[in-house]
Amino acid sequence: MRLPTFRLSSTLLPRISSQPLLSRRMASAQASVFGLKDSSLIKTQAFIGGKWVDSKNGEKITVQNPATLEELGTVPEMGLSETKEAIDAAAKALPEWSKTTAKHRHDILMKLFALMQEHHDDLARLITLENGKTLTEAKGENVYSASFVEWFAEEAVRTYGEHIPSPTANVRNVVIKQPVGVVAILTPWNFPSAMITRKLGAALAAGCTSVIKPPPETPFSCLALVELARRAGVPDGVINVVTTLKNVAEVGKEMCESKIVKKVTFTGSTPVAKLLAGMAASTLKKVSIEAGGNAPFIVFGDADIDEAVAAAIVCKFRGTGQTCVCANRIYVQSSVYAEFASRLTEKVAAMKIGNGLEESTTHGPLIHQRAVEKVQAHVDDAVKLGAQVLVGGSSIPGTAFFHPTVLSDVPPGARVNTEETFGPMAALVKFETEDEVIKLANSTDVGLAGYFFSRDVGRVWRVAEKLEVGMVGCNTGMISSAVIPFGGIKESGLGREGGHGIEEYMNTKLIVFGGLA
Ligand code: SIN
Repeated sequence: MRLPTFRLSSTLLPRISSQPLLSRRMASAQASVFGLKDSSLIKTQAFIGGKWVDSKNGEKITVQNPATLEELGTVPEMGLSETKEAIDAAAKALPEWSKTTAKHRHDILMKLFALMQEHHDDLARLITLENGKTLTEAKGENVYSASFVEWFAEEAVRTYGEHIPSPTANVRNVVIKQPVGVVAILTPWNFPSAMITRKLGAALAAGCTSVIKPPPETPFSCLALVELARRAGVPDGVINVVTTLKNVAEVGKEMCESKIVKKVTFTGSTPVAKLLAGMAASTLKKVSIEAGGNAPFIVFGDADIDEAVAAAIVCKFRGTGQTCVCANRIYVQSSVYAEFASRLTEKVAAMKIGNGLEESTTHGPLIHQRAVEKVQAHVDDAVKLGAQVLVGGSSIPGTAFFHPTVLSDVPPGARVNTEETFGPMAALVKFETEDEVIKLANSTDVGLAGYFFSRDVGRVWRVAEKLEVGMVGCNTGMISSAVIPFGGIKESGLGREGGHGIEEYMNTKLIVFGGLA
C-alpha cells in the first residue's frame, strides 16, 4: 500500500487518532517533508498545561511553504475556550514558578540556550521552510533568537531593586521587583523564532508564566522552541501555546481583556497594535508594543558611498524587505545621488531569488501572495507618479516571489513615503539640504528606526538627535542585538524589548520600614 501523501493530511487527520498504523505513517511522511535530524521537534499540536493538544472541534490550520506554496503541515485552529484553558494553566503554574530563585530560572534558560545551539540546523531549517528566508538568514535568526535566551538568563539574576535613603529618621525605603504574573505574547511571522524568545526569554527570567499566540503562517518554529524549553526543564503550565487563524479576534480579545492576564506584549502592525492596546485598557494591564516602522535611510554627500550602499543592501533587503526596521525611504543628497543609485542597482540586479534551502539563493519569497500584491501596488503607485524602475519592479506570477527592485526619483506623494512596503523595493528620493531631509524623514506618524550616513561629526550629533525614531543607525544599516533597548516612538510602539526589557515584565514594589529606632 502506498503511503498517503502529506498533501492529504488535513482531510485525513480527524480520523488518524483511531488508526495508529496510519498515524505512524503520516508522522513519517510529515518528518520527510521537514527533513529534520530530530523529527521529534516537529509539533503539530498546541501546548496547554504541559500537554500537546488538538482543538476541541478538531479543526486545523494549514501551513504552507511560501517558496513552493506546498503544504507543510497543520496545527489546531483554537478558539475562546482553549485560550481560557491556557490562561488558567498559566495562572495555576504561576505561584510555583514565580517563587523559584533567579538562579534556578537562569540555569533553565541557559539549558534552553544550549539546546538551541545543539539543534541549530533543524531550527534554522524550520524557519526557512515556514517563513521562506534563506538558510543563511535563518541560521542568523536562530543565533539572534538564542542570544535573547542567553541575555535574559543573565538579566534574571540582576533584577536588583534599590534602597532609597529616607528624609525621615528611623525609616528605610526599599524597592523590590516582582514578576507581573501571566503574560500574553502575540508574535509575527517575519522572525518566527527571535520574536518569541525576545518576549518569552524576558517573561521566564522575570518569573512570569505565559500564553503565546504564534502567527498562523509560522507556528512550527514556536512549537519546536517550546519543546526545547520543556526539555530544558520549564515546568508544565509555565509556557502555553494557542494556535489560531480564523478565531484570532476572539483569542486576541481574551488575551487582552482577561483579568488573569497582567501583561500583553505584541509585535506586528500599527492598526492591530491599536486594537490590542484598546482592549488591554479595559483592565489597565501592562502593554509592550513593537509596531510598524517606515524607516528613513539618509545618505549625505560626505558619506562613504561604498559603506552606504553595502548598508542599504543589508538594511533594505534583510528578510526580503520584511522587517519592521528595514529602510523604507532612501534619501540621497543630490551630489552623490547618481553614483549611489547606480552602485545600488548593480548590487540589487545581482541578487538571486529562489527557495531559501538552495545555496545559490540570496533572497527568499515574501510570506504570501497578498504581500506580493502590496509591493506591486507600491511600485505601480510610485511609477504612476513619475518614479523610474532601475531594476525589478514585478513579481513572478502565481508565486510569492517579487524581483528585488530599485526605484529612482520617487516623488513625495507616493504611498511608500507614508506606508511601510514590507518588501524588496528600494525607493530612492533625491534631496538638497539637511533641513529638508530631516523634515521629510520625520513626516510620518511612526518612528521605529532611522539610519543615516555622514562623516561630519557635528552633523552626526544633529541628525541623530533630530530624527523622530526610537533607534538610530549612524553609519550602519544593522542595529539589532539582544543587548539594545529595541522599540519605537510615535505610533511605532510602547516600551522596549531586549536590553533592560526584563523591567517590562516586573512590578516595582516599595516597602517602607518605619519605627526602626
Ligand atoms: C522586527 O522586524 O519586528 C524585528 C527586527 C529585529 O529585531 O531586528
